Amino acid sequence: MRAPRVYLETYGCQMNVADSALVTAVLRRAGYASAERPDDADVILLNTCAIREHAEERVLGRLSYLYRFKSARPEVRLGLLGCMAQHNRAALVEKAWYLDLVAGPDAYRRLPEMIGAASFDPQVDVRLDRAETYADIPAAHAEGVRAYVTAMRGCDRFCAFCVVPYVRGRERSVPPNDLLREIRALADKGVREVMLLGQTVNAYRFDDVDFGELLRMIARVDGIERIRFTSPHPSDMSDSVIDAMATEPKVQPYVHLPLQSGSDRILAAMERGYTVDGYLALVAKLRRAIPGLAMSTDIIVGFHGEDDADFRATLEVMRAVSYDGAYTFKYSIRENTRAFKLGDTVSEDEKQRRLNEVIALQEQTSLERNRALIGQVFPVLVEGAARRGEGMLAGKTPQFKTAAFPAAPGIDAGDIEMVRVESVTGHSLTCSRV
Ligand code: SAH
Ligand code: SF4
Ligand code: F3S
Repeated sequence: MRAPRVYLETYGCQMNVADSALVTAVLRRAGYASAERPDDADVILLNTCAIREHAEERVLGRLSYLYRFKSARPEVRLGLLGCMAQHNRAALVEKAWYLDLVAGPDAYRRLPEMIGAASFDPQVDVRLDRAETYADIPAAHAEGVRAYVTAMRGCDRFCAFCVVPYVRGRERSVPPNDLLREIRALADKGVREVMLLGQTVNAYRFDDVDFGELLRMIARVDGIERIRFTSPHPSDMSDSVIDAMATEPKVQPYVHLPLQSGSDRILAAMERGYTVDGYLALVAKLRRAIPGLAMSTDIIVGFHGEDDADFRATLEVMRAVSYDGAYTFKYSIRENTRAFKLGDTVSEDEKQRRLNEVIALQEQTSLERNRALIGQVFPVLVEGAARRGEGMLAGKTPQFKTAAFPAAPGIDAGDIEMVRVESVTGHSLTCSRV
């Protein structure tokens, strides 16, 4: 008999991408195979994101499209996983009445059972489990030379705008020995770079191992050449972490440090736990400790109460820091969060105008920063053929910039090649080999 097949689509952040690899591993153990397309599948699953309203709307649209496969073949099981499942299961089950299962991020062990259950009502498991780390299921999501490894789950910070603590539950760290075992196995399979994941990854702690110590332990794994992590929270950027970044050559000189707003008033309303001065002092300290450090950030425009002066303050901090890149978002009010009751005070048009302005500023800054690299030489971890350009290979510099350079016999994925920057855009570097 042919193994039942699962088609899985993923939305949201890298943690969700890693969770989809986990779901695939759980289902493979239970005898399921993967399907490339929904029309081949016996089970169709969507792993969803709830961070902004737009993310949810996309999933609802996609769900009603995928329902047609189920109406054509009623034996198909259709399920919704992830953060949106956790966020609004009641509304979901009502709107998408044809769903067979709804499983939150801590319910993935039970998926085979939920899929197998024949019942008229949907199987729903959205219990959050403060102990679940899936530590025993090796499921790193490897993309060629880089693997994404979940180091901690959940979030305890409760920023006023954010659903993550509600949909992912309490913060918990994967035991270091399980992480090391998994990373050693990845290295044996040819992985050269690990990206450690967690919503506040630098808050990692297991017994007396903090995040700095974890970085040092992973740096001792033979075969792993580069270590990265995302997302650290500014308030958890301890000296131990900075020291590991500064002294362990394998820990790469790039940090994503979400700012959200450059106004103290708004940062306080967001309950981010730092001030602009505190943030800038941290940036200065990081730059002093780590030469050539690249930085990116997240910015939200149009949070409750943000006036023009607050917004200008954000532009000011962006100019002062001079980020290599920024992910920019319009504030999207989310049910259940602390800011929900405050309401939305900035019009959609004004949010869009502010967003355009931060995007334009960042494009200009990214281009200027990349231009300053022309003529410099960097070691690039080769990932494979460049997306654009015949006969070109591509990979990342230590600063996580995409670099393309001419292919040559004997250069393969996983090699580290020295390249010189010849020309740039705001998003990539074109290089020659040295
Ligand atoms: N844990 C990370 C962020 C995870 S969510 C951190 O604390 O930095 C990724 C980004 O989405 C956030 O940094 C924030 O910029 C954005 N975001 C989160 N909630 C949002 C909301 N309600 N509206 C708009 N953007 C939001
Ligand atoms: Fe959300 Fe704040 Fe936690 Fe990041 S730190 S996931 S923004 S609550
Ligand atoms: Fe979205 Fe959940 Fe990630 S809400 S951003 S998929 S943790």
